[in-house]
Amino acid sequence: MKILGIESSCDETAAAVVEERGDAARPWQARSNVIASQVAIHRAWGGVVPELASRQHLRDICGVAERALEDGRVGWRDIDALAVTQGPGLVGSLLVGLSFAKSAAASLGVPLVPVHHLAGHIESLVLEHGELPYPASVLVVSGGHTSLYFVPEPGRYHLVGRTRDDAAGEAYDKVAKLLGLGYPGGPIIDRLATQGNEHAIAFPVARLTHRDRNPAPEVLLPEGFEKALQYRTDFSFSGLKTAVMRYVKSRDAGPGARSAFSDHEIADICASFQRVVIEALLNRTFDAARWYNARSIGIAGGVSANSRLRAVATARGEQVGLPVFVPSLKLATDNAAMIAAAGLRRFHQGVTAPLSLNAHANLSL
Ligand code: KG4
Ligand code: ZN
Repeated sequence: MKILGIESSCDETAAAVVEERGDAARPWQARSNVIASQVAIHRAWGGVVPELASRQHLRDICGVAERALEDGRVGWRDIDALAVTQGPGLVGSLLVGLSFAKSAAASLGVPLVPVHHLAGHIESLVLEHGELPYPASVLVVSGGHTSLYFVPEPGRYHLVGRTRDDAAGEAYDKVAKLLGLGYPGGPIIDRLATQGNEHAIAFPVARLTHRDRNPAPEVLLPEGFEKALQYRTDFSFSGLKTAVMRYVKSRDAGPGARSAFSDHEIADICASFQRVVIEALLNRTFDAARWYNARSIGIAGGVSANSRLRAVATARGEQVGLPVFVPSLKLATDNAAMIAAAGLRRFHQGVTAPLSLNAHANLSL
C-alpha cells in the first residue's frame, strides 16, 4: 500500500509518499519526502505570521505534491490513500493541506486518513528505526509543543505531561530574538552554545509537580499505570525566558541585545540557557521511563535536532541501560513522511474520514 501524506500545520508545506514494506518490525519506507520551507518569509518578522503562512501554502501545495510523486517514482493512480494533518496547528494553514487532501482523495476515489500532528512526530521514530522496544517514553518537543507520551504499544499514545506555557522550541526562538541572534533560534543557539560554558550563569530550572495547583489535563492510562500518575510532572519554560530577559536587562541591554555582549558572553548565555532546557526535558522523560517501566526513550520534533540534547540523552540512556531513539534531521522538523507513516498506522486501525472533515487548531491526542 502507498499513501500520500500532506502536512501544512505551520510554516512548512510538505508532501511525501510512504509505502508498506510488509515487515512488522520495520513497517514503512519513505519513497519521497518533499518540504517547502517558509523560514525565509517569516524571518523578517521574527516569527511565523499566520496569514502569510496560509497564503504561501496555497502557492506551494500543488507543486510540492507533484514533486513528491515524481521523487517517489509513482503516479496519482498508484496512490491508495491520502493522509493529512488535521491539527493541531494554525487553522488557515491546516485548511490548505486539508482541502488539497480531500480533493485528491475524492478525485482518486481513495480513503482519507486524518492524522494528529504529534502522532506524526512520534511515528517519525518508527519510520526511521522500526518499531521501538515498547513500552516507550516519547518526548515530542518542537516550536509549538512540548508533550511527553507514554506509548505502551504501537499506535497508542497517552499524554503524561505537557508544557504549561511556552514550548521548548518557542523558548529557543524567543531567547534568540531577545539576544538579537536571528530566527529560528534553535539551530543558532545550538551552534553558539558549543563555544560557551554551560555553567557560567545559573538560570533557574522550573519544576511543576502534582502538588501544583494548576489543573492538568485528563489522562487515560492503561490498567495498572494509574498509580504512576501521582508522579506526573509538566514542563514550564516561560520563567527561564524571563530569567534570561532579566539577565540581559541587568547589563542595561534591551531587546536585540547582541552588541552589549562579547561573543564569548553570548556563547555562555546560550550554553547556560540550553543546559537548563535539556535538563528539564530529559529529567521528566527519564523519570517517566522509570515510573512506567519503559524499555526505550524516543525524542522527536524540531528541537530533537539539537546536538547537545541528542548527546546528553544518549549518554543518560547508556547510564541507565535504555536505548534512546531520535529521528534523522529531515524527519525531526515538520515533514509529511511522518504524517504518511502515522496515516498508515491509523488506516489499519480502521480510521478514515468523510469529506466533511474539518481542521482542528487545538486537536488533542
Ligand atoms: O517540529 P518543528 O519543525 O515545528 C513545529 O511543529 O513547531 O519545530 C521547529 C522548532 C523551532 O522552534 C526551532 O527553533 C526548533 O524547532 N529547532 C531547534 C533546533 N532545530 C530546530 N531547537 C534547538 N536546537 C536545534 N538544533
Ligand atoms: Zn511539528
